[in-house]
Amino acid sequence: MASVSGTAGYDAHAATLVTAYESITFEDVHRDVIHLFPAAPSRVLDVGAGTGRDAAALARRGHHVVAVEPTPGLRSAGERLHAALPITWIDDHLPDLAVLRQQPERFDLVLLTAVWMHLDAAERATAMAALADLLAEAGQIVMTLRHGPVPEGRRMFDVSADETGALAKPHGLIAHHSGARRDTLGRDDVRWSVLALRRATVPAPVPHG
Ligand SMILES: C[S@@+](CC[C@H](N)C(=O)[O-])C[C@H]1O[C@@H](n2cnc3c(N)ncnc32)[C@H](O)[C@@H]1O
Repeated sequence: MASVSGTAGYDAHAATLVTAYESITFEDVHRDVIHLFPAAPSRVLDVGAGTGRDAAALARRGHHVVAVEPTPGLRSAGERLHAALPITWIDDHLPDLAVLRQQPERFDLVLLTAVWMHLDAAERATAMAALADLLAEAGQIVMTLRHGPVPEGRRMFDVSADETGALAKPHGLIAHHSGARRDTLGRDDVRWSVLALRRATVPAPVPHG
């Protein structure tokens, strides 16, 4: 089977990556936007969930979580590490999320943490339509975009928050948060953009404690 666009370099290094991804916390990774996430039990989709660090934290908070992960070595590690939690793991991928979209479920929070910049421009256009389709009426899409050198063997593009906001607009989505932060893993040459999108027709989420 042809490998999934964007996943280059992940499966071969899965063992090392599992340790790195699980060494940081959901609270640190999402500290800029965590106050915008739903507090009440909600339907959450984590696309490119990796080892399920965030999916697990959200399941522990009482959310119904679907984790999509195309890299076999990361998905199987996540299933094993977080087996005690009710996470639904799906082998699917951007840009179409074709497996997931065959199901009727729509989501209040869609997370793409360190995933979007793996797609090229044409894939990002297709993927934005898929995400808009999967979003519940009052839902949010929250994504982080990595900037800095491309690790050897990976496929990555420098994608800005502004460009992503512009891509979202024709789908009726607007940015209600756009910020920047340093790297949670402490790499000096890596920076991140943090972007939260919602439908233009619904009010911004009310921040909570
Ligand atoms: C840097 S890792 C981030 C993993 C996790 N979100 C985290 O924050 O720890 C990027 C993830 O994106 C996934 N990925 C790459 N291309 C993808 C695609 N086309 N569709 C969905 N996920 C993809 C990889 O398999 C990998 O798990």
